Amino acid sequence: MRNTLLIVAGAALLSAGFSPLRAADKPKHTIEEIMEQGFKGKQSPAARVGKGEATKADFKLLAELTHDLPLNTPEMGDAKSWKTKATALAAAGKALAEGKPGALELWKEAANCKACHTDHKPEKK
Ligand code: HEC
Repeated sequence: MRNTLLIVAGAALLSAGFSPLRAADKPKHTIEEIMEQGFKGKQSPAARVGKGEATKADFKLLAELTHDLPLNTPEMGDAKSWKTKATALAAAGKALAEGKPGALELWKEAANCKACHTDHKPEKK
């Protein structure tokens, strides 16, 4: 029993040490939550950004949600391709919230629903 515990603890330490993500970088939101809360529908914060109607609160929410996107792993698609797309979206979200010049262009390029879904969104049964 004692040995088992030690092994479990050791394995946990090892995986923590070798994981590229530190514990503090655990995502607070799943991909589904990010999509539901930030992107889904014609009145979503992301849709409002596209129409130029987004508020500061929308930017803030999108920055917070997309921050977690690259910390998640999608069920489908190439890990490197995902990292690139998700990181770009997170950076664009952050830039929007910070009011950086050119943020909107960055965002529009990164928030390409179809490009990302084609590669990474599994077909729902
Ligand atoms: C960087 C990649 C990426 C971008 C950009 C992206 N999505 Fe997604 N989206 C995903 C992934 C991955 C899923 C699948 C999540 C799952 O179910 O596992 C998804 C799922 C969804 C879902 C289904 C959520 C659910 O409840 O299962 C909706 C709705 C959605 N996206 C809307 C959008 C819209 C609208 C846009 C563009 C404005 C967008 N997404 C842009 C990656 C992306």
